[in-house]
Amino acid sequence: MKFFIDTANLDQIREANDLGILDGVTTNPSLMAKEGIKGTEAILKHYKDICEIVQNPVSAEVISTDFAGIVEEGKKLAAIDPNIVVKVPMIKDGIKAIKWFTDNGIKTNCTLVFSAGQAILAAKAGATYVSPFIGRIDDSNWDGVDLIAQIAHIYRSQGFNTQVLAASIRNALHIVRCAEVGADVCTCPLSSILGLLKHPLTDLGLAQFLADAKNMQ
Ligand code: G3P
Repeated sequence: MKFFIDTANLDQIREANDLGILDGVTTNPSLMAKEGIKGTEAILKHYKDICEIVQNPVSAEVISTDFAGIVEEGKKLAAIDPNIVVKVPMIKDGIKAIKWFTDNGIKTNCTLVFSAGQAILAAKAGATYVSPFIGRIDDSNWDGVDLIAQIAHIYRSQGFNTQVLAASIRNALHIVRCAEVGADVCTCPLSSILGLLKHPLTDLGLAQFLADAKNMQ
């Protein structure tokens, strides 16, 4: 399973990248706004800055909702860097635009996916990635990881090439469960990636080893 970081914060992207285990970045308009980025030029420059840190796929989301607007915006985003993946919402014109991007060699990430039916449509349109939001599904009293398992099963049995990108990850256990059920990618906040490091027995064991090592000096 690939690890993407789900943020537009350059320091956090650098920190995750420095770990040596980062395979890409996803952003969305809310994450960009959180960084205080304003205006088209600033937005395009920020994506360029991210692409300079990480030489791996970087999802940049369109904000148009009509076919012509999505295509025009997506072409501008894709022109920033060869690693840009155009992130498109799961709406009717979005599906049409994903098919257009697929036919024109532009990679896409179909976002705001909450059902297997939506995931099938995204795959039929040729999306490179599909992003089910598992944390938000959990918030609504369903099990988000069950949806990842269902989509992964459908894609494998039907031979779809679209990668299942588990999004809206809230904790380290989400990452483990997504790996267990066959997600291709997990996009996570830095806190959830670092959460994988944690175990009290590791801390206790290390303290003991270091104390015993001192006695050998
Ligand atoms: O990748 C989508 C993700 O950023 C949404 O996460 O925590 O806002 O549900 P969240």
